[in-house]
Amino acid sequence: MAVILDDSPATLERLARALLSDQLVAVPTETVYGLAGNALSSIACARIFEAKGRPAHDPLIVHLADLSMLDRIAQPHPSVARLAAAFWPGPLTLILNRRPVIPDIVTSGLDTVAVRIPAHPVFHRLIRTADIPLAAPSANPFGYISPTTSAHVVAQLGDRLDLILEGGPCKIGIESTILDLVTGPLPRILRPGAVSGSQIEAVIGPILTGPLQDSSPSESRALIAPGLLDRHYSPATPLTLRDRPFTPAEMAALPPGVVALTFRKPREPAGNSRWLSENGDLGEAAHGLYSVLRAIDEEGPAAIEAEPVPDDGGLGRAINDRLRRASGPPVGGRAGPTQ
Ligand code: TXA
Ligand code: MG
Repeated sequence: MAVILDDSPATLERLARALLSDQLVAVPTETVYGLAGNALSSIACARIFEAKGRPAHDPLIVHLADLSMLDRIAQPHPSVARLAAAFWPGPLTLILNRRPVIPDIVTSGLDTVAVRIPAHPVFHRLIRTADIPLAAPSANPFGYISPTTSAHVVAQLGDRLDLILEGGPCKIGIESTILDLVTGPLPRILRPGAVSGSQIEAVIGPILTGPLQDSSPSESRALIAPGLLDRHYSPATPLTLRDRPFTPAEMAALPPGVVALTFRKPREPAGNSRWLSENGDLGEAAHGLYSVLRAIDEEGPAAIEAEPVPDDGGLGRAINDRLRRASGPPVGGRAGPTQ
């Protein structure tokens, strides 16, 4: 059973030794908790896939303490210095051409590798102490929503994991923006997150920001963004995403047992009302999104009907993306939360 550990220097030394001997550690980041292992060890990375029940075709993100580590694992790219200056440490993952030192299992056999420098001070100290790049997917069973507290990690992976590093609730609450710099003629956002397309364009010029899922057939999508399948990040309760916000009459007309999930607190909340933000703040909505979905799962209603949040191109777009994935068709034709 997992133990939750503080961030004292002695603990960080202990966790660094564990990582260097191929054990896994659940770690806090500013986005979501991750399940970290030595990115240079195929044994450690195989353990990550096993603990999550993650299919081998879904590659991992490699986390670094600073830019000096990047050269060891990825080939140089002209946009990296500017993007790093603007957004790292922070919630931006870059897809770059890999170096051979990265084991195939990390990249699912692709020639590219996903990298980011996370902004959480405790995780940062751990990477520095271990002095190795750490592969870390979100610390949830494959297909379920990501954990944003250590308690979420214990609830879901506590029996498959020994070591959890406490870092408090994750500030942002949803996964990083993923920007592919190398696969197409223009950089492309593969997954929206807190760093918006327009923020990136202000630094490196035009990029593609449209949802991948609408523009290409699923087979080619799977090659460009393996793992970013239609259904992902799902609560156990079936969720429908509406195409526009609720009117009060629409909310009142919901059948019993269906939870109405709104962006801001309704003026007159009913028993089945749940909301992401008191006053309509996208940061608060992102921060609480997965906790709210978990709490609804615990209540066990028949279904969730969610309204979209305002699409600001940044957090709002990312929240709508996660709600859409939570409502999407099942991966590989199987319904259920944990494919
Ligand atoms: O905020 C985050 O990014 C969190 C924290 C822990 O850093 N991590 C995270 O990892 O969300 P994960 O494994 O749940 O999602 C990473 C996604 C994969 O599903 C995959 O689609 C994409 O990153 N990815 C990884 N390597 C890739 C590559 N070489 N090419 C394209 N997509 C890649
Ligand atoms: Mg994930």
